[in-house]
Amino acid sequence: MDGSPLPVRSFSAPSVLAELWFSLVHRLRGGSRVSPGSDLKQPGRITLGARCKIHRGAQIDASVGTGVQFAERVSIGRGAMIQGSRGGVAIGAGTEVNNYAVINGAGGVTIGADCLVGPHACIVSYGHEYRDRERPIRTQGYRYAPIVIEDDVWIGAHAVVLAGVRVGRGAVLGAGSVVTRDVEPYTVVAGVPARAIARRGERAA
Ligand SMILES: CC(C)(COP(=O)(O)OP(=O)(O)OC[C@H]1O[C@@H](n2cnc3c(N)ncnc32)[C@H](O)[C@@H]1OP(=O)(O)O)[C@@H](O)C(=O)NCCC(=O)NCCS
Repeated sequence: MDGSPLPVRSFSAPSVLAELWFSLVHRLRGGSRVSPGSDLKQPGRITLGARCKIHRGAQIDASVGTGVQFAERVSIGRGAMIQGSRGGVAIGAGTEVNNYAVINGAGGVTIGADCLVGPHACIVSYGHEYRDRERPIRTQGYRYAPIVIEDDVWIGAHAVVLAGVRVGRGAVLGAGSVVTRDVEPYTVVAGVPARAIARRGERAA
């Protein structure tokens, strides 16, 4: 021992109990598995369908705004962060959110059914006001705009979806793409900014 202070872990008994209660009720009612190592903020405002999986290290924060809703069979990977924020996050049936993805609902995020959100993808529905040079950006407030991702969309690893974007049904967002504009249904986009490179089910000429 070198005499340095031991790290202190914050521990809030009521929130730990609320998490345990939430995971027990959903296990018994709908067969959902909420890992004991996941971090649920305000579990009373998280709606969970049957047979969902929240993996160890995932964080679901419903402490602000309209909350977080998962339909049945939604899976949230290790280290993923779902922040309901002021506009809320709703995720459709069978959608899988991979490890370390970040979804922020400040402007509202709706993700459809059977989507795949790749590792480290970032879906954030707000930005900062920045036009005034005389004041730090930090103090200028926010811009919010909803993100809608329709059914059967595959979002590649490290892709970024900006506020206000609608991604049409069946689209594919390439790994590392930055999606600044709406994506047509069944279109494959890639790059920074993301551009269409193909249509699903159509051969290149
Ligand atoms: C977008 C994607 C699905 C396209 O795959 P594909 O249909 O096999 O396309 P190809 O590999 O034939 O590439 C077609 C063209 O687009 C380019 N391209 C493909 N993916 C790209 C990407 N992510 N960013 C930039 N350009 C890309 C290729 O370089 C190629 O360009 P070229 O014709 O000038 O050579 C795939 O490249 C991808 O990004 N997959 C995501 C993988 C991933 O994130 N996995 C994690 C599990 S969720």
